[in-house]
Amino acid sequence: MAATEVQEKPQIVALISGGGSNLQAIIEHIANGIIDAEISLVISNNPAAKGLEKAAAVGIPTAVVDHTEYDSRESFDRELKRHIDAAQPQLVVLAGFMRILTPDFTNHYAGRMLNIHPSLLPEFKGVNTHARAIAAGASQHGASVHFVTSELDGGPLVIQAIVDIDEDDTAAGLAGRVLQQEHIIYPIAVKWFCEGRLSMDGNLVRLDKQPLPIQGIAHRVTS
Ligand code: GRF
Repeated sequence: MAATEVQEKPQIVALISGGGSNLQAIIEHIANGIIDAEISLVISNNPAAKGLEKAAAVGIPTAVVDHTEYDSRESFDRELKRHIDAAQPQLVVLAGFMRILTPDFTNHYAGRMLNIHPSLLPEFKGVNTHARAIAAGASQHGASVHFVTSELDGGPLVIQAIVDIDEDDTAAGLAGRVLQQEHIIYPIAVKWFCEGRLSMDGNLVRLDKQPLPIQGIAHRVTS
């Protein structure tokens, strides 16, 4: 008699630095059965990150790799990699993880690490994106989920949420509306990946084997 094969759910390791609201959104999608996966570990570079409490509250193991205790990006990334690889995840999710990663690190996880960035990439890479979009007179802003490569905020795009900028918008108001959309698009991308539907192929992203447009899938918010 053939042995029964036990199919393990895809394992996810999430890296955070702060509030962990994107992590929370993914946790809820898993709890509701929308994403069929398991978060096996949450790692923060910041010991005070509120997201650590969110993970611990639902019994997800947590670890802290405090970047201030390392004298180089390389040694910090090596320790981070050691923790992640011990968990043997299929997917690494950067969820508000505010560290620049070395090429050795990003290459090691090529095609299996996703990030969310609060702008319509390639516009406004880096920090303070909402204030910069308003100052530039942009009419639209948003968020992008992309595969991580060695180029900061530069990997191939999976999905973007497009949010209109109002005339009297403040950076905080806009950030709040963009964050709401992050909580929609990040779980979608994670779900696709965990279902084996999403892959990185050089500079392209494929969904169900079909190449996506260069901006990824567009999720337009109607107000
Ligand atoms: C989000 O806008 C994320 O895109 C950015 O950090 C913000 C906070 O995220 N990189 P979270 O609440 O910690 O998920």
